[in-house]
Amino acid sequence: MRYFETDTYYHMSRMAANIISAQIITKPDCVLGLATGSTPIGIYKQLIEWYKKGDLDFSDAASINLDEYLGLDGTNDQSYRYFMNKNLFDRVNINKENTNVPDGKAENAESFCRKYEDKIDELGGADVQILGIGRNGHIGFNEPDSVLVPTTHLTSLTESTVEANARFFASEADVPRHAITMGMRSIFKAKKIIVLANGESKADAVKAMLEGISTKCPASLLCLHPNVVLICDKAAYSKV
Ligand code: GLP
Repeated sequence: MRYFETDTYYHMSRMAANIISAQIITKPDCVLGLATGSTPIGIYKQLIEWYKKGDLDFSDAASINLDEYLGLDGTNDQSYRYFMNKNLFDRVNINKENTNVPDGKAENAESFCRKYEDKIDELGGADVQILGIGRNGHIGFNEPDSVLVPTTHLTSLTESTVEANARFFASEADVPRHAITMGMRSIFKAKKIIVLANGESKADAVKAMLEGISTKCPASLLCLHPNVVLICDKAAYSKV
């Protein structure tokens, strides 16, 4: 794992956007592994800016997202499909048909998860995967536990995640308690992984991630992947 500490969130986002844009330029038909949450918004802003300047072309690219809340469809403004459309897909020339976000309204969620995993395999895994970290060290919606499900699966959110994500909803009671998420093995199919963390609220998770490998901190498993770049701002790196 390579580590970079940046002065600000802006610099963290720009560094990650540079790596992703190099990927798109050198392999236009690449597969982008994408994430939601507040962390990657700065990257998406930067990529949109470069696209508008004519430096980036997404027309041959495909994407695959980490997760989605169960029960929300893509028109719900809290769904991750809605987030991706609003923050990236609607603002660049990616072909929406080549974008994949788990279907929170799938009739049979278990069979949907199997199909999603097949899709990841069909695409050959992501060329580059962006990851944020939950305050409790979760990745996607792989929550700390004694055992982790390796592939795409249905999962329950911990109270700490419900609480952290409540800021996006009208009230904590509105936060879905279940989600579909890629598993850590699905994520490991990526050829390169960029992990991002900013702000003091992520300092404990970054510390735990680098302290030793444990399913109690899913982010720590990333130390086992051969090609990971961790980019943190000063505050997130402050306890290491
Ligand atoms: C959510 C997402 C994760 C994300 C995490 C951190 O629960 N499922 O993929 O990394 O929260 O979110 P934020 O970037 O808003 O701190």
